[in-house]
Amino acid sequence: MSSNENAVTRLDLRSRLLVSTAGELRRRVDEARIRPGAVIGLVPTMGFFHEGHLSLMRAARAECSYVIVSAFVNPIQFGATEDFNTYPRDLDRDLAVAAGEGVDLMFAPPEHEVYQPGFDTMVVPGKISEGLCGASRPGHFRGVATIVAKLFNIVKPDTAYFGQKDAQQVAVIRRMATDLNFDVAIRVCPTVREPGGLAMSSRNTYLSDEEREQAAVLFRALSAAKEAAASGETSVSRIRRKMKKMIGGEYLVDLEYVKIVNPVDLEPVEEVATEALVAVAARVGRTRLIDNMMLTPGGPDAADA
Ligand code: PAF
Repeated sequence: MSSNENAVTRLDLRSRLLVSTAGELRRRVDEARIRPGAVIGLVPTMGFFHEGHLSLMRAARAECSYVIVSAFVNPIQFGATEDFNTYPRDLDRDLAVAAGEGVDLMFAPPEHEVYQPGFDTMVVPGKISEGLCGASRPGHFRGVATIVAKLFNIVKPDTAYFGQKDAQQVAVIRRMATDLNFDVAIRVCPTVREPGGLAMSSRNTYLSDEEREQAAVLFRALSAAKEAAASGETSVSRIRRKMKKMIGGEYLVDLEYVKIVNPVDLEPVEEVATEALVAVAARVGRTRLIDNMMLTPGGPDAADA
């Protein structure tokens, strides 16, 4: 394609798909909502799409008559020393990808549209946001809950789609939707992984080849925990010890936490007697990665439980 044709395609996609104000978004969704049988799906993202985002768009496309994807790098969920400025962005590529997935509309507002002068109200999640990533990212889930609440209020989706990779985010949003009476179904889609097992994330673009290779230990350690639980291991401390040993074997991977918690309220559990969530966070070079898996107890006693 010539650079002129490229520019025309870009402009065409922007005019067909892109909405950058809340007012226009509300107007377009309200139009779609009154069509017979309308089901409105929302996929909130920070853009720079990868296969994980595509799986959310595909689930939404399969289940909804009208699909909105938001792509907004939300400044208030980043700490002062975090990667807000360097977070990867590519609006035209995202628009082309969203169009390819049959998305109806992409909401990519400028920051001043979302946080207007005088903005002074936050949604503050409670205890559920304090452990795991909340311990090292104070204010992060307040930023997430606030932007998601704003999106829910503007779009009023029937269903909103999130990835299991961000398990704490999912728990916080579910809690918020229940506590604040948002009339929306929260659909959680499985984590999509790179061939070595590393969970897909826009931040994976920061990794060098060697870092990427070593980062896959998080997947291997989670898989080992899953296998141990399925074979009857119920001791949280033994599972964590084993995982820490595996992760410690990769010199570029600096473990922040490995925790086993109740998947709904994220409270730590002492043994894997029922389904539990094992979650990890680690720094690999300058990149902070998270991942998790569900543990399902197995072994001789499981059938009686
Ligand atoms: O998961 C993300 O990409 C973000 O945290 C979200 C939910 C879009 C809020 O900014």
